Amino acid sequence: MLSYNRVKTSARFILNQIETPLDIAIILGSGLGAYHERLENPVRISYEDIPDFPPATALGHKSMLAFGKLGGKSVAMMCGRYHCYEGYTMEQSAFPVYVLKELGVKVIIVTNATGCINTSFNAGELMLITDHIKLVSDSPLRGKNYDELGPRFNDMTYAYTPRLQRLARDAAKRLGITLREGVYAYMPGPSYETPAEIRALRTLGADAVGMSTVAEVIAASHCGLEVLGVSLLTNMAAGILDKPLTHSEVLEAGNKGSQTLSALIDHIISEIEG
Ligand code: HPA
Repeated sequence: MLSYNRVKTSARFILNQIETPLDIAIILGSGLGAYHERLENPVRISYEDIPDFPPATALGHKSMLAFGKLGGKSVAMMCGRYHCYEGYTMEQSAFPVYVLKELGVKVIIVTNATGCINTSFNAGELMLITDHIKLVSDSPLRGKNYDELGPRFNDMTYAYTPRLQRLARDAAKRLGITLREGVYAYMPGPSYETPAEIRALRTLGADAVGMSTVAEVIAASHCGLEVLGVSLLTNMAAGILDKPLTHSEVLEAGNKGSQTLSALIDHIISEIEG
């Protein structure tokens, strides 16, 4: 179970090995897997060595935290995340976010691969996440609340921080990158959605669908971190094209889009005021 003591224990283990203060944390989704190589003088800590960090097992994901300088900022990168389809709970998915907050991070950038629900979007483009829909009843905050971490009932109105959204829009404009905007729908996977589920999600107002991110964003909002979410649109969601979805297609599109996503994140990091 989540507890402030467990968060402190993991943070203390990491603090012994890194330079602080930290400014920004980034969760590297599919498409940004190699982004940690950009860090200057990196310190890398394997999840297996950190108390309460199980291994990240998803294909195409590493399993370590990397710390270093980037764009003049002190940055922590989560190389690999915990998905519920791996058998982890939402609380386990969210746990590292509290540890990053305890390490002094103020801003968290979450990236992921998603399928396009909005048919005016194209695979290979980026989407700024403006909000999310989580239809499953679980939450990383279910159970005892730790007031040291955040309030019992936290507000999600501005979970995706407006000033960071503006910054991302400006960065994309300056770099000539198409940045779509929309609502991310969480689905637990690991099956891709059915065409009927995609139609239902579209009716509900979703623009893209993925199997990660919302547990982390709920935790970040709970503990008062500013959040920026950027999706790499890797495929048209189920039923839009008359063909099945494959994970290799998602990974391939993730690799192709990685340069654009990296360029955008580079620019945003250098522009962010802490
Ligand atoms: N559905 C769910 N998750 C995804 C998809 C999708 O179509 N593409 C990439 N991650």
